[in-house]
Amino acid sequence: MSASRPSVVIILAAGEGTRMRSAIPKVLHPIAGRSLLGHVIEAAATLEPHHLVVVTGHGRDQVHAHLAEIAPWVVTVVQEEQNGTGHAVRIALAGLADQGITARGGPVVVLTGDTPLLSGPTLVALLLEHESTQASATVLTARVADPTGYGRIVRGADGEVTGIVEHRDADDAQLLIDEINSGMYAFEPEALARSLGRLTTDNAQGEEYLTDVISVMRGDGLVVSASVCVDSDEILGVNDRVQLAEAAATMRDRLNDRWMRAGVTMVDPASTWLDVDVELAPDVLLRPQVILRGPTSVASGATVGPGTTLTSCEVGSGAEVVHTWAELAVIGDDAHVGPFTYLRPGTVLGRGSKAGAYVEIKNSTIGDGAKVPHLSYVGDADIGEGANVGAATVTVNYDGVDKHRTVVGAHARIGSDTMLVAPVTVGDGAYTAAGSVITDDVPPGAMGVGRARQRNVEGWVERRRPGSPAAEAAERARQDSSGSTSSQPPSETA
Ligand code: UD1
Ligand code: CA
Repeated sequence: MSASRPSVVIILAAGEGTRMRSAIPKVLHPIAGRSLLGHVIEAAATLEPHHLVVVTGHGRDQVHAHLAEIAPWVVTVVQEEQNGTGHAVRIALAGLADQGITARGGPVVVLTGDTPLLSGPTLVALLLEHESTQASATVLTARVADPTGYGRIVRGADGEVTGIVEHRDADDAQLLIDEINSGMYAFEPEALARSLGRLTTDNAQGEEYLTDVISVMRGDGLVVSASVCVDSDEILGVNDRVQLAEAAATMRDRLNDRWMRAGVTMVDPASTWLDVDVELAPDVLLRPQVILRGPTSVASGATVGPGTTLTSCEVGSGAEVVHTWAELAVIGDDAHVGPFTYLRPGTVLGRGSKAGAYVEIKNSTIGDGAKVPHLSYVGDADIGEGANVGAATVTVNYDGVDKHRTVVGAHARIGSDTMLVAPVTVGDGAYTAAGSVITDDVPPGAMGVGRARQRNVEGWVERRRPGSPAAEAAERARQDSSGSTSSQPPSETA
């Protein structure tokens, strides 16, 4: 059975969110890489409503900018003063009418912007209940252990919903009710519009309560239904940072369960944090303390972690990524990264390549089978296939004004501690001598040497550091090797 499409979904998000104590509007705080509001829009979108409207007020500029980015098809209506949830829905319908949109040809669904755990199937269940009972209003409810703060669902002797009483307006008997109002509903458009016009502000908060629509409709003899949400987590509203963390943990568990059932091994799901846009193949192994953000993908047989954060990265099959921080990097099949490796945007590691310990790479391609095993900085470079970049090599890519590229050919061997002063090219199969500062191109097959020759100043330590442990060791070595009893060190020019 499929539910009919809502004419309008209204998401209420005008409130201040005072308890967050934040400069950022509450509904823009993210969990799992998506704003609270973004999660609600995602759930609402599964209903394919004809129109989706977000009611904004506090922090509206930020909310509008965010919506333009994540869901430009969403309509916004501003509620200048927050005179209650009923007022907000009234303003939304009036604002839609001003834009030539009438709620007609399907139910109006009302949601709140701060319930990120809400799922599409729960909304479908709400609509199916609404349709099958031919109700004028259907409330999404839940039974909870601690109903404090929520509106209570009041049912008559026959079990029918007769009204909703806010916590602050409830009497002692009503406070004992453990079925709560989620703040989400489906309404018949005409009945809703008529009832909204009859709301009063005669309550503890002096606001127009949307909840009062229920008793108004019942008074008119209309049918009011309830859809009880099985998983009460889904309607958990985020009001403060503690609830934000709780919602994030629940979302983490939900995503992790889904990926484990899809064939991903997680050694420690509690320390594995995935954004909603992450894609994992079967037989991916995630070790403890892995954070995968943005649209990161990991192909089958790859291992990530421990202790790794990847943002918008692509990890190839069979690759291993250990103790790494990477952003906008592509890690090829069977590549090996880490430990303690920093991959910055524009890094592309070829098949079977290696970026080892204390290596930073930026805006560079590392060819198939090429290796940067230790202690190097590679920026704005193209390293050919099979090349080896010796320990402590640095691409000197920045002249203080502009960045320049370094090209290293296939199977080249860059000696340890080479400074590659860009723009510079080391040809295919070429070598550079350890400790070189390479300022000129090295032709294919050549050995580039760019360093001073060594000279030894004989006897320097005994003359200049007399009596030191080094001088005493030097003296013993001299006497052992020469068999001499001379007390004089060799002279400098010897
Ligand atoms: C509301 C319900 C309560 C329910 C609870 C579920 C009413 C009167 N009460 O209470 O029965 O148990 O939600 O979480 O509806 N908002 C506006 N404009 C306004 C007022 C509110 O956009 O003028 C928005 C808020 O930003 C928020 C949502 O509506 O997203 C709910 O408002 P809030 O004040 O948090 O209602 P509750 O007191 O939680
Ligand atoms: Ca309130």
